[in-house]
Amino acid sequence: MPGSDASVKNLPLLPMNSPNLIQFDSAHFDSRARQWDDNPVFVERGLKIAQAVRESVPLNRAMRVLDYGCGTGLLAFPLKDEVGAMLLVDTSPGMLAVAAEKIAAYGATHMHTAKLDLVADPAPTEKFDLIVTAMTLHHIPDTDRILRVFHELLAPGGHLCIADLDREDGSFHGIEVDVHHGFERDDLAARAAAAGFADVAFRTVFSIAKARDNATRDYPVFLMTARSAAL
Ligand SMILES: C[S@@+](CC[C@H](N)C(=O)[O-])C[C@H]1O[C@@H](n2cnc3c(N)ncnc32)[C@H](O)[C@@H]1O
Repeated sequence: MPGSDASVKNLPLLPMNSPNLIQFDSAHFDSRARQWDDNPVFVERGLKIAQAVRESVPLNRAMRVLDYGCGTGLLAFPLKDEVGAMLLVDTSPGMLAVAAEKIAAYGATHMHTAKLDLVADPAPTEKFDLIVTAMTLHHIPDTDRILRVFHELLAPGGHLCIADLDREDGSFHGIEVDVHHGFERDDLAARAAAAGFADVAFRTVFSIAKARDNATRDYPVFLMTARSAAL
């Protein structure tokens, strides 16, 4: 079962911020932004996550949506005609520039971008009905903090949808890269509950195949859904 491999369970969740490891900072994502949408795996991943979101959350055109770590908008754009105002947030100006060009090309006047780090910067004062985030949680050192910020940003009863890697041994990015090595589902569920979320549920939505050690290895991607409950 995804996330239940005994060899990777119960490893510490916070291996990040080591000065000896490679940082995937905003310059790293800036350098990849122009080619991001050329990767068919990234495109398909966004479509599969969007499908799982619409199967899990009753979407409507009044919903205010935040996509955190939006990149070029590969999750946001497939949902754009089913929700209301969308704020696409990222720390990479290069990613945000590509997303903004796509917004203009679609004439999607209900979509906007913002450069924001919700852990370091003051949070927006507006509330959201849905927060989605794809493949970004593993880049954020303080998981508990960002879950609390998400909870503060959601209107009562609002939905949180997190897509990310199941716990792996570090080979997805390479152990020299300073990211979380995916998440153990029970552990993330407990952290979400502690942040004030209810109805936490998981499903597998995608699998990323990578060549590793002369073989092909699959890295499952989950969607965690939860609702904001009063603390
Ligand atoms: C693996 S990419 C995923 C992009 C997009 N969600 C997708 O699925 O194609 C991770 C994204 O998270 C952004 N990111 C990393 N750390 C962040 C932070 N602290 N706050 C907001 N965005 C961040 C990166 O700039 C990058 O665009």
